[in-house]
Amino acid sequence: MRICCIGAGYVGGPTMTMIAHKCSDIIVDVVDINADRIASWNSDNLPVFEPNLDGLVKEVRNKNLFFSTDVETAVERADIIFISVNTPTKKYGYGAGRASDLSYVEACARTIAKVSKTGKIVVEKSTMPVRTADVIKTILASTGMKFQVLSNPEFLAEGTAVQDLENPDRVLIGGDEETQEGRDAIDVLASIYERWVSPEKIIKTNLWSSELSKLTANAFLAQRISSINSISALCEATGADVDQVATAVGSDTRIGSKFLKSSIGYGGSCFQKDLLNLIYLCEHFNLPEVAKYWRGVVEINEYQKKRFSDKIVESLFRNICGKRIAIFGFSFKENTNDTRETPAIDICRNLLSENAVLAFYDPQVSAEQICADLQIEKTDSRVEFCKSPYEASENAHAIVLLTHWDEFTKLDYEKIKKAMMSPAWIFDGRNCLNHRLLLELGYLVHAVGKGNLS
Ligand code: NAD
Ligand code: UGA
Repeated sequence: MRICCIGAGYVGGPTMTMIAHKCSDIIVDVVDINADRIASWNSDNLPVFEPNLDGLVKEVRNKNLFFSTDVETAVERADIIFISVNTPTKKYGYGAGRASDLSYVEACARTIAKVSKTGKIVVEKSTMPVRTADVIKTILASTGMKFQVLSNPEFLAEGTAVQDLENPDRVLIGGDEETQEGRDAIDVLASIYERWVSPEKIIKTNLWSSELSKLTANAFLAQRISSINSISALCEATGADVDQVATAVGSDTRIGSKFLKSSIGYGGSCFQKDLLNLIYLCEHFNLPEVAKYWRGVVEINEYQKKRFSDKIVESLFRNICGKRIAIFGFSFKENTNDTRETPAIDICRNLLSENAVLAFYDPQVSAEQICADLQIEKTDSRVEFCKSPYEASENAHAIVLLTHWDEFTKLDYEKIKKAMMSPAWIFDGRNCLNHRLLLELGYLVHAVGKGNLS
């Protein structure tokens, strides 16, 4: 069997590496139009930073896993084609700022239609609005050949991709359940996952349920974060401690303890885009009340980022002009180099608009990436890029912790304080530091959802 995956990104690369690893008899071609990305996958410096991914890639690359820019050859030879391209928020025309831009998906469907000599199984791996499979089906049907379109959304989270792929909570496969060909195609895909996932974890549904389940899962996850973040504002106003509230609330098995960590807001390439898409779909299907409900989740996230940067400005006597502020972490979460929609962007922009001097340190994000995200030049006098958190905090008035990288919890904060200006502030946007110890060392501390820290 030969598999082709179109799109060598954060999903395509790791997902196909796992399939190649678990199925040595299947040849897996991962193709992309981005030649730099493919060169990177073929080098020692992978484009995606994920714990334990490098070793897996090395074990199977050029054995049964191949990275290439030759999209057409790989598509033509494949029995199963995964579409794993980006589906960003549309920037123009109908649905701008809300709907998904499906142009990359459509381009894939057209390539498949153009070069295929026989019918194949085509799998939507990208996150799609419900009923997108119709678009792909219609384009493929124009060839006169018989294709089966399946929906197999990916649930991995960045930073834990390898463990999520190796041991998923579930694998979801949607297809044309009404026909024998449809059911056969679902079973073929299921048989690949069954090499390492137990059958009871493989959920088979119709196409539309599968597409909608993915959007709903991300909406529910984002909703939990906005829920606890909304309570964090109330904690700060009342003196309650959001971590204690989360523990007490999450101990109810009906609620559960995961995904209740209060923060500066969720980031990442998907929550925002998938929520906006869900809202757009609700409006499209004339369900304004449902759209309004989900819009609240997005609004709380924006509020949380703004609240945090406002707190910094306010604490530093409403004057941060020319003040050096150390920024600890820029990626949207720990253990990834991904900065898409990271809350750090909005927070840093707010601080830069007050002419603060930001000294950045992130273990995986480059200065070039930070400048591109903030739309500033590397030579801008308001930014500095440091090789260590110690360097970033020298002469700083404040440390602003934006990403929960483990190394930030292990620093010598006594040494750091001696090199900082006084009073020395720490704004812990992830509630991951030992606040009691920091207070003892003489820092002024603000943490999300912690009433009075003194
Ligand atoms: P990405 O931007 O990292 O990768 C997409 C890749 O597709 C890019 O390298 C791009 O060059 C390539 N591409 C675009 N059009 C192409 C074409 N016509 N032919 C060949 N290559 C093409 O995106 P990603 O983060 O991997 O996400 C992909 C999809 O998976 C999205 O729909 C996303 O919502 C979904 N998803 C992402 C994650 C995640 O953790 N990032 C998790 C689950 C689902
Ligand atoms: C998320 C989902 O968890 C995956 O299941 C899904 O496949 C993926 O989106 C996707 O569709 O792209 P990801 O965005 O990679 O994965 O990472 P998460 O762990 O979900 O974190 C998202 C954001 O929420 C991060 O900024 C994180 O710091 C924040 N977060 C998470 C919190 O603020 N509090 C929490 O309790 C959990």
